[in-house]
Amino acid sequence: MTSRISLKAAAKINLYLEITGNRPDGYHDLVMILQSIDLCDRVDLRKLGTDEIQVSCTNPELPCDRSNLAYKAAALMQSAFPEIGGVEIAIDKQIPMGAGLAGGSANAAAVLVGIDRLWNLGLTQSQICDLAAQLGSDIPFCVVGGTALATGRGEILSPLPDLKDLVLVVCKPRHISISTVWAYQTFRSHGLLAHNPAKHQALSSQMVAAIASGGESAPAKIGRLLYNDLERAVLPEYPELVDLENKLLEQECLGAMMSGSGSTMFAIAADLDRAHQIAEAVRTEDIDVWVVKSLVRSIFDA
Ligand code: C5P
Repeated sequence: MTSRISLKAAAKINLYLEITGNRPDGYHDLVMILQSIDLCDRVDLRKLGTDEIQVSCTNPELPCDRSNLAYKAAALMQSAFPEIGGVEIAIDKQIPMGAGLAGGSANAAAVLVGIDRLWNLGLTQSQICDLAAQLGSDIPFCVVGGTALATGRGEILSPLPDLKDLVLVVCKPRHISISTVWAYQTFRSHGLLAHNPAKHQALSSQMVAAIASGGESAPAKIGRLLYNDLERAVLPEYPELVDLENKLLEQECLGAMMSGSGSTMFAIAADLDRAHQIAEAVRTEDIDVWVVKSLVRSIFDA
């Protein structure tokens, strides 16, 4: 029986993020459209002879103790399935942290899926998603991937038609990492829900229709409909991000926006050539830039 498994776990961007309510549990009700992108961490899992959970990461800035989401995912599996033993988790980090790209959630999703496979637990995707939702709001999406509408805290998913070959320029300012907790708290404490400018019921439906329309005109339609409520909380505090978004919009792109709680800004490009031109125009020694395509899943064999 196999004792190790290597998985690739994809980052996500938000094509749409609307905050529709403050919840009594401190969370927010959301309507999001999430998209997996081809920017992946590699997560290697190996069965251990003991009950220990060991986490290591190529990025020394990531704490590998019990606070690590990958550790928490393994601990959750151990408590749900006492028959499984210890596991060594090695994360090769490519997805930037504090970026709004769900890198930590992607790692946790890979651990859930990997442990299910290593120990032949035979869980369905929906069972894995139920476990994932206990760990974090974005983790069920990171299990499923592709293109999805997410509601509730973000954990209630409805699949949307695959967005194949959407071309994106993804930009992360090296020195700006944003705490998701801070972004949502700022949104709430500044009373931004009460001043919600968009008529989102209609906007999110338009985005879903644009995705479903498919074909060559879909990226342009999607680009015009990009929306993220958290920009109103985050951008006033980070003028550098406003500058970056403006710089992207000055290029010949189909739309640009912050992903999740930031600090990643992304642009949709008409094709790969254009994407590389945009990337060159915005890349500096302080801004990491990737040209990536959309993915139709989120977890792959490495
Ligand atoms: O669910 P997760 O632990 O990933 O969320 C991180 C933080 O993001 C939460 O502690 C909360 O501050 C904020 N959040 C929120 N509403 C959501 C999802 C996340 O306020 N729907």
